Amino acid sequence: MSADLRQAAIDVRDNAHAPYSNFKVGAAVRAASGAIYVGCNVENVAYPEGTCAEAGAIAAMVAAGDRVLTEAYVVAGAQMPVTPCGGCRQKLAEFGAGDVAVTMATTGGIEQRTTLADLLPGTFSTAHMKGQG
Ligand code: THU
Repeated sequence: MSADLRQAAIDVRDNAHAPYSNFKVGAAVRAASGAIYVGCNVENVAYPEGTCAEAGAIAAMVAAGDRVLTEAYVVAGAQMPVTPCGGCRQKLAEFGAGDVAVTMATTGGIEQRTTLADLLPGTFSTAHMKGQG
């Protein structure tokens, strides 16, 4: 069940630094160890320097020594569930298998469940680098 992931993502979303978009996002990932790691978006006055909530959660996971994620949950306050941006899909795929469940949600309670494979078909991986010359 992802109730604990949802709560973790909702809680960390409160800490988002999003004065430019006013779009606060919270993310939580569950690692193979069972630990939950969280992240929120952290924007910057130099706009491209901002980071997504998913990136923060993944960085926390790796910093803590976990390398495999088994579930992810992303929540924002809009009308429709927030979907990870392209870059974050690739970041999630670095540490999660294709069958990893990703739940995209609204603070209002709408949830949309998908998988990493569905979010990032044709994922670039080490297999693509085999035989390079
Ligand atoms: N954002 C995330 O943190 N995660 C997503 O999945 C989508 C977008 C952030 C980036 C930026 O701070 C704000 O939402 C608006 O794009």
